[in-house]
Amino acid sequence: ADSLRIALAGLGTVGAGVIRVLTENGDLIARRAGRPIEIVAVNARDRSKDRGVDLSGYAWEDDMAAFADRDDVDVVVELVGGSDGPALALARKTLAGGKGLVTANKAMIAHHGMELAEAAEQAGVPLRYEAAVAGGIPAIKGLGEGAAANRIERIYGILNGTCNYILSQMEGSGADFADVLKDAQELGYAEADPTFDVEGVDAAHKLAILASLAFGTRIDFGAVDCSGISAIRAADIAQADQLGFVIRLIGLADCTTDELGPRLFQRVAPCLVAKDHALAGPKGPTNAVVIEGDHVGQLLLQGAGAGMGPTASAVVADLIDIARGFNPPPLGLPAAMLQPSTPADPAGRRNR
Ligand code: NDP
Ligand code: HSE
Repeated sequence: ADSLRIALAGLGTVGAGVIRVLTENGDLIARRAGRPIEIVAVNARDRSKDRGVDLSGYAWEDDMAAFADRDDVDVVVELVGGSDGPALALARKTLAGGKGLVTANKAMIAHHGMELAEAAEQAGVPLRYEAAVAGGIPAIKGLGEGAAANRIERIYGILNGTCNYILSQMEGSGADFADVLKDAQELGYAEADPTFDVEGVDAAHKLAILASLAFGTRIDFGAVDCSGISAIRAADIAQADQLGFVIRLIGLADCTTDELGPRLFQRVAPCLVAKDHALAGPKGPTNAVVIEGDHVGQLLLQGAGAGMGPTASAVVADLIDIARGFNPPPLGLPAAMLQPSTPADPAGRRNR
């Protein structure tokens, strides 16, 4: 069968990981996908950088936007990052030009996912972003496909690997926040700007995407009430420990109807979690996503939420879906059917 021909923008932690997965598991992936997945062209900023993978068989494009013009490319894989800038320009041009797009870029989906979903639907091409939420965990598939028969009551969990790594390392050793953050950066877990991780913004991007899928609302990142872990000190963790808790950065979304009407509540905040709770267990860059559905009950999806192998695994899973011809609406429902969300109003609902 004809191969699925892809172009890779971004050859950092995730991009290099995708090359590794496709190289090491190429035969198995071709069998599962029904055809080979072939890298045709690549791009990054610095052509001379050693990335630990062999790039010699791929065309190098100096300008990633050129991928959208290539007749020998079916799907563009965007692994550059940033909510706007070259990643967004590439995404728009790719979809408008009738090619599929796979991305791990939660910032871009949280800010522009509606527009991109509409563009993909209009062009009849796939837009997939499994790796954007919770790294290697199939959270998007779990919610949008596995739990699709359910009315979702609540979705919550640990959505940032860097914060979980920092908090759990500080727990074990009393290590200094800044030192552990530096380790997380070196291990490839952190965002290019790590304040996105430690201030809760990255988790808020992911929560806004999950909430849209869970409740059939338009993505509303601006309505996420968000705080991070940058003010947490070793003394806070020790104090929590004495009381029988650990501290975890938790994202939670639920949608309820009260006398004021339907309300979507989205919050990211450091929380005290009882040591015997499932969300106290995950250490290191592990994420955990709890989906509560009216018929399935409680689902707990847990695994590596950041890092090269797990994130690349999710990107390639999307490519396998596309190679098989699977093309569900990018946001679970056609974009035109998504409802506007009611802005979060903790003062109105939670504190009354
Ligand atoms: P890296 O910083 O490791 O890699 C980014 C890549 O993009 C690099 O190859 C870089 O080029 C290239 N790049 C950056 N800016 C430009 C530009 N202006 N023009 C051309 N190329 C550019 O990031 P990650 O691989 O960690 O992350 C990529 C995406 O995946 C992001 O959206 C991130 O949020 C997401 N993600 C990351 C996860 C992780 O664990 N790391 C997990 C889940 C999602 P060069 O190498 O030459 O500098
Ligand atoms: N910086 C992100 C994290 C990468 O630490 O979770 C995975 O999305």
